[in-house]
Amino acid sequence: MKIVLATNNRHKVEELTHLLAGEGREIRTLAESGFSGEIVEDGATFEENSYIKARTVSERLGCIAVADDSGLEVDCLGGAPGVHSARYAGEHASDAENLDKLLDAVCGKTDRRARFVSVITAVFPDGRRITARGECEGKILDERRGSGSFGYDPVFYYEPLGKTFAEMTTEEKNAVSHRGKAVRRFAEMFFLDKPARE
Ligand code: IMP
Repeated sequence: MKIVLATNNRHKVEELTHLLAGEGREIRTLAESGFSGEIVEDGATFEENSYIKARTVSERLGCIAVADDSGLEVDCLGGAPGVHSARYAGEHASDAENLDKLLDAVCGKTDRRARFVSVITAVFPDGRRITARGECEGKILDERRGSGSFGYDPVFYYEPLGKTFAEMTTEEKNAVSHRGKAVRRFAEMFFLDKPARE
């Protein structure tokens, strides 16, 4: 079974491959599958953007495509950066710039509750789709802690383990993360072929 991951984000590719890998599954990245061109993510929700990405790749390549759309919702910012997480500080902003903007925005706020959200969608060549959502609750710190991660990981504190996402191993993060939860739900539907397909 050939599955193309509809993302160019190296960290997402690593996490998704780790979570979806298994016997008989050929997992390819966008680059490996020869896909080129931009995908316009103009949806208002994680569900819409995840579907847009998977559908575009599936239609173009005629294969099963799997996409993750994810982001960080911060309560004291009214849910921002939300679906704009990747471009919070501007269209081509780096992770560091987005993180600096977040730290400025929460400075002086006492309510630091936040959650990561991930929505995984598979689109099949015949147009059917499977969607699963995962969330992880945490708190935004005042400064970065940990390294070897991406996005907002260094300031997202997960209380049950007493660590930021950036201080966790891949296994620790996958066990509790939004993407880990979404992929496990997704895998149940996808590989066991439960009747959740639309
Ligand atoms: P997307 O690629 O359009 O789904 O944008 C997702 C953005 O949300 C990323 O660029 C990160 O800024 C943020 N994000 C999503 N998942 C994570 C995570 O696991 N850790 C840190 N940041 C994340």
